[in-house]
Amino acid sequence: AVQRTFSIIKPDATNRNLTGAINAIFEKNGLRIVAQKRIEMTQKQAETFYAVHSERPFFGELVEFMTSAPVVVQVLEGENAVLKHREVMGATNPAEAAEGTVRKEFALSIGENSVHGSDSEENAAIEIAQFFSGNEIVG
Ligand code: CMP
Repeated sequence: AVQRTFSIIKPDATNRNLTGAINAIFEKNGLRIVAQKRIEMTQKQAETFYAVHSERPFFGELVEFMTSAPVVVQVLEGENAVLKHREVMGATNPAEAAEGTVRKEFALSIGENSVHGSDSEENAAIEIAQFFSGNEIVG
């Protein structure tokens, strides 16, 4: 089925001017960018977005990183978009990411791993709603 998923191009990637290169990989793999904006995530936005990780030892570092430079938040649409996007991103740890994936090609470390993607359709809807209003998504 056609799904939507939420994507973030993270500070390590925007710093290295990789937005277009990453978008090209998404589009080549059948993911359509139906909403996109470049923002500076606030501390509060980052803490809310990553609330599920708030007890993890890396939480402070994660919030600091995500607010350190612009990010590009996106809604991607396509057949099985949630799983497709996760496949195209590759494993969270770039050392474990498969050849040809975004993280294999661009990620610097498990923290500075260039991209985020929703892990389920349910979370995708929650994450999309945190950053986009309905009229900003044009399919
Ligand atoms: P993301 O998909 O954005 O969701 C949670 C993020 O936490 C994950 O990508 C990683 O970038 C980050 N993360 C996970 N494990 C670690 C870790 N051990 N150290 C730093 N960051 C981590």
